[in-house]
Amino acid sequence: MTLVDTDTQTLPSMDALVIRGGARLNGTVRVSGAKNAALPLMAATILAPGEHVLENCPSLMDTRTMARVLEYLGAKVRFEDHVCRIDTSPVRSSEAPYELVKTMRASIYVLGPLLARFGEVRVSLPGGCAWGPRPVDLHIKAMEKLGAEVSIESGYIVARSPRGLTGCHFPFEFVSVGATGNLLMAAVLARGETVIENAALEPDITQLAEYLFQLGSEIEGIGTSTLRVRGVDKLSPGRVRIVPDRIEAATFVAAGAIAGGPLRVEGVKLEDCEAAVRKIEATGAQITVEGDAITVDRHERPRAVDVTTAPFPGFATDMQAQVMALLSIADGTSKITDTIYHDRFTHVPELVRLGADIRLDGNSAIIRGVDKLSGCPVMATDLRASAALVLAALVAKGETRISRIYHLDRGYERLDEKLAAAGAQITRIRE
Ligand code: EPU
Repeated sequence: MTLVDTDTQTLPSMDALVIRGGARLNGTVRVSGAKNAALPLMAATILAPGEHVLENCPSLMDTRTMARVLEYLGAKVRFEDHVCRIDTSPVRSSEAPYELVKTMRASIYVLGPLLARFGEVRVSLPGGCAWGPRPVDLHIKAMEKLGAEVSIESGYIVARSPRGLTGCHFPFEFVSVGATGNLLMAAVLARGETVIENAALEPDITQLAEYLFQLGSEIEGIGTSTLRVRGVDKLSPGRVRIVPDRIEAATFVAAGAIAGGPLRVEGVKLEDCEAAVRKIEATGAQITVEGDAITVDRHERPRAVDVTTAPFPGFATDMQAQVMALLSIADGTSKITDTIYHDRFTHVPELVRLGADIRLDGNSAIIRGVDKLSGCPVMATDLRASAALVLAALVAKGETRISRIYHLDRGYERLDEKLAAAGAQITRIRE
């Protein structure tokens, strides 16, 4: 393993957080680079042999896992002070093994770039995830539509296109962030034109398309739901600054709304998280926007609101759990419907342990606001569920101990330290 890591964050796998609820947040937190933008950008470096520089790269378990995948393929990866340098000239292998892919579904992002560069690829099927099935059929269909022969062999997606890929017309029946990214990355080196309809509009995909454009791809319609790609023979490496993490930003806004502020959240790209921020504002939180900073405060009990998740620019499924924590102490009954993942509710039983009154009805959660939550031991079950438990613990009376916090460390950079610096009573312990 050649991964050089001089970042200070340690990532112990069995830590717990102990949070004493009741402290208002009073201070400033800064948003890190976006995990979900960093991961496809890291994969995209495969397309252009040479050294790529990714600035503002978040120091997370997931970005380290992607670095390991790239290293396995032969790349040289150096991670230093939030700058990730990836040299993809030495990449020779086109196989992403189960041992790495099983730890992070987003490893599937190497499918398109490897197929485009080498004409063949073997990527392990990612398997299920914490809250249920997350198929990859659209990724496979997209590669087939570009002319690849795809089969599933011993748990691996095996795709071959010995004579190269050919542009295609691909209308997505529903929005998929990852499949849009994979198709786009494969199409930039395909022969002829590819038209992607109903492409994901998520800022992560827009940044990916912009980076591919910078590397020499011919892409029209960036930032819209129709992407037109004219394949080129070769791309050159580049440098990019990763956008601020919209989910981390909105999680902090939710933290200020649940615990009370004033909490200043700096380094926010509001247009990337506006639906969540406005929904939090609708609960009665005071939101003040000044340049790239949002100050959030709350003086009254939150009001109940209804939430329905949707693809960007709608309310992100990745914010559903955190807003559920806020609504669990609201005055009135709220309903959260997740239209993206119908069973993404593993946080519900844990919030209920803290005293929340939540009932599931299909892909909706009915949240009857309670006066107060009470601290107790709970278990993190996935990334956003963990964040929801942290937020709930900030207002729960007494002490909450959240175990299995490695889920949180996958996608939030030092969330506990950032909140502690803003006044939260939060400590990390070894279990
Ligand atoms: N889907 C299929 N077939 C596919 C691909 C997706 O049926 O081949 C379905 C999914 O099961 C889901 C819907 O399509 O119902 C949308 O999934 P999408 O492909 O958009 O999700 P993803 O690319 O796998 C990314 C984020 C997730 C986020 C979703 C939705 C990354 C690395 N992951 O996943 O982020 O929830 O988009 O916005 O970008 C997180 O950060 O906590 C996280 C889970």
